[in-house]
Amino acid sequence: MHDILPEQCRYFAHVEKLAREVLTGYGYEEIRLPLLESTELFKRTIGEVTDIVEKEMYTFADRNGDSLTLRPEGTAGCVRGGIENGLLHNQVRRLWYSGAMFRHERPQKGRYRQFHQIGVETFGMAGPDIDAELLLLTRRLWRRLGLNDLELQINSLGTAAVRAVYREELVAYFIAHYELLDEDSRRRLQSNPLRILDSKNPALQDLIAGAPQLPASLDQESRAHFDELCRLLDAAGVVYRVNPRLVRGLDYYGKTVFEWVTDRLGAQGTVCAGGRYDGLVAQLGGRATPAAGFALGIERVVALLEEQATLPAAAPDLFLAVVGTEAERIGLLYAEQLRDANPALGVLVNCGGGSFKSQLKRADKSGAAFALVLGDEEAVQASVGVKALREGAPQQTWAWQDLLRTLAGCAAADLPRLLMRT
Ligand code: HAM
Repeated sequence: MHDILPEQCRYFAHVEKLAREVLTGYGYEEIRLPLLESTELFKRTIGEVTDIVEKEMYTFADRNGDSLTLRPEGTAGCVRGGIENGLLHNQVRRLWYSGAMFRHERPQKGRYRQFHQIGVETFGMAGPDIDAELLLLTRRLWRRLGLNDLELQINSLGTAAVRAVYREELVAYFIAHYELLDEDSRRRLQSNPLRILDSKNPALQDLIAGAPQLPASLDQESRAHFDELCRLLDAAGVVYRVNPRLVRGLDYYGKTVFEWVTDRLGAQGTVCAGGRYDGLVAQLGGRATPAAGFALGIERVVALLEEQATLPAAAPDLFLAVVGTEAERIGLLYAEQLRDANPALGVLVNCGGGSFKSQLKRADKSGAAFALVLGDEEAVQASVGVKALREGAPQQTWAWQDLLRTLAGCAAADLPRLLMRT
């Protein structure tokens, strides 16, 4: 688990802000869900023989002896909450959430034990149009963020019946090449053979490349759904690659699955992933409801943005230096009056004393455009010195009330025009 420091928080907030704007623009509503759910929920949705459930969950018994788990993902909780609160039956829903998820994985760059997702879940829409919408809104978010080199991979997993047949074909194929499998794949051969296709072991890549492919055995309905999705994406100019090996690590998917990937993050290149899960609502006790969604990993998006260094540091507009006991006392009040007069301005007050010189150094470092200087003498005269920090202009003295009136309601961009009197 990692600390997210102020420098990175700026990027987190930026991603969250743009995601909220884009999602709201597409008519999605926010939902906030608990961090803890019953362990059973994740076993039933993600699947007993997935990596997440087998070895990555933070599970413990609470004081009543009930087994709880810190959520490793958001879809299960969203479906549970949707059913319990009557949000899904006979309705069309577009929901999104943002928050921490927990997986006991081996930490490395882009992979953490506490990480953050923005997740999107839709209910009640069975056609490929909503699949396309999810991809369009994601593309729009990448564009807003200035991320232009993510690759979209899509695939269809077909119906459960198709996957059962495909599973048998895969098992037969891998058994025929048993001596080439590594230990992990041998273990998965019986429990979850599709996951062998996901193996990152370089020694297995030739074997995997020769394995039977899922799209070859797709049922007619899934095929028509997938073809229509491709047509919709083509018409909207969305660039994608059909990747027949894309199987996803959670059991609830059927038909469409997709991932947005990058080669700039090393092994953890999947930035956003999702697909359809038409069977899950009924599986959890609700009425059968088609569903589709995705989640993006905020840490991975932030890592890409940090590489591009696209975000300037947030700076206050004004730094108020206060030198002397009386000035310190009155400085806090002056700053409040300034904030009352103009809530849009960022005002940073020097706290903790310091000489005039050291305070001006801090002012400079803060990135503010102007320093307001309040000494004991100014405090007595109800005046303040105004110093432009980025220009060589000499300090000017203002009557405090004049300054308040001048700055009331102005935009930060107007400060140089208003404060640099000739
Ligand atoms: P997922 O593929 O397990 O899907 O995770 C989605 C995204 O979360 C990944 O593509 C990655 O960006 C990020 N992520 C996952 N694990 C970590 C980690 N340990 N550290 C950092 N980032 C990570 C789901 O969670 C599904 N619930 C997505 C979904 C929603 N499908 C339908 N609706």
